[in-house]
Amino acid sequence: MDAVEFFTALGTPAGRANPYPLYAKLDGLGEAVALAPGTVVVVGYDAISAVLRDPGFRVSDEERWDRDLSGWRDNPLFVQAMDWILNLNGPKHARIRSLMARTFTARRVADLAPAIARMADDLLDAMGDRGADGSAVEFMHDFAFLLPVTVICELIGIPEADREGFRPVARDLNRIFEFDDVTCLTAINAAAVELLAYFTGLAASRGANPRDDLISDLLSVSESADGRLSDAELLHNLTLLLVAGFETTTNLLGNGLHVILRHPETGAALADGSVQAGAFVEEVLRYDSPVQLTSRIGYETKIGGVTVGDGDSVTTVLGAGNRDPRRFADPDVFRPSRSEGAPLSFGGGAHFCIGAALARLEGGIAFPRLMRRFPKLSAEGEPVRRETFLLRGFDALPITIA
Ligand code: HEM
Repeated sequence: MDAVEFFTALGTPAGRANPYPLYAKLDGLGEAVALAPGTVVVVGYDAISAVLRDPGFRVSDEERWDRDLSGWRDNPLFVQAMDWILNLNGPKHARIRSLMARTFTARRVADLAPAIARMADDLLDAMGDRGADGSAVEFMHDFAFLLPVTVICELIGIPEADREGFRPVARDLNRIFEFDDVTCLTAINAAAVELLAYFTGLAASRGANPRDDLISDLLSVSESADGRLSDAELLHNLTLLLVAGFETTTNLLGNGLHVILRHPETGAALADGSVQAGAFVEEVLRYDSPVQLTSRIGYETKIGGVTVGDGDSVTTVLGAGNRDPRRFADPDVFRPSRSEGAPLSFGGGAHFCIGAALARLEGGIAFPRLMRRFPKLSAEGEPVRRETFLLRGFDALPITIA
């Protein structure tokens, strides 16, 4: 098989179920491979890291969309996404990102710990009630989805009374990762419009009565003397937090539980503290990354020995870099005691995940609590994998807890 065939195989059900042998084969062809003229795939750890840290490689932005995505301006989703830091380059990215970072601080994240523990315990209580008689509970729906969405609500400052109604809209917005038809795009656009209206109202209310939450802080930096965050930029990037921070963390929780179901000794070690929660989370991120790839627009250079041209499409396969044998010994073995460097799962360089500390905190709080609470937890039936390739996770992980 050549590189094109390996890459095509990644899109098949078998490839999606387990892409790692295919990544290893791609890696055998080199750290980077040219799939076709103008298309490069990067699978080696160092090469991926180099691409993400090199400002010469740009994310696909408004200019590129005008070239490749005719009619994008007719979609409310894309109009908002045009302001997302994920889709911005250069000074505009730096400006908005630094204003966001000024409010999304390590302190704000650390302060969320007690609330996250409380929310996790509430969800575990509800799971405990449902599964006490030995009936199956569904981890993705009952825990992995609800915890991150509630945490983002808490972070932004969405009042508890609004959260129930907020969840289905957040879920619709996240169909962005599976969008394959017009019906889906219609639902995503509707969710984007609804969220924007909601955030506009919340911003007006916090503008009048600021609180200790992210939206109040963003409003205050946007109005400060050196603040240059327009209303649209602020509101659109709140929507981004839901796109970037919610299903990714859901999948971290699901992929971690999947490891525990196959290695019950690891679950027991998490419960008794002989495996540190932080080390476990780090290894889940490496072993089965919730985000498998990201992409950049190339410029004239070489990467992993492969020539890249101006405007080329460059796909960095984070999930493959995390299994690079040049970096990680026995890469297919789950080993939380590793000290071979951070996984690539949060990206790198200017676009490094702004929510990495929050995701790590959520996982670090959730897993030991789950295992201490339900030490007999085990699989009940077959997991149902999510169809998407970019994000790796499950639709359903049925378990019993008693
Ligand atoms: C396990 C969970 C998570 C994973 C695996 C993850 C992964 C990533 C990756 C790979 C990127 C970089 C994309 C690129 O370079 O093209 C990124 C960016 C980003 N993430 Fe996360 N993320 C997670 C959780 C979160 C959370 C909880 C939030 C916020 C609540 C968040 C917000 C963002 C934002 C705003 C960006 C864009 C940063 C920029 O472009 O400057 N993420 N994330």
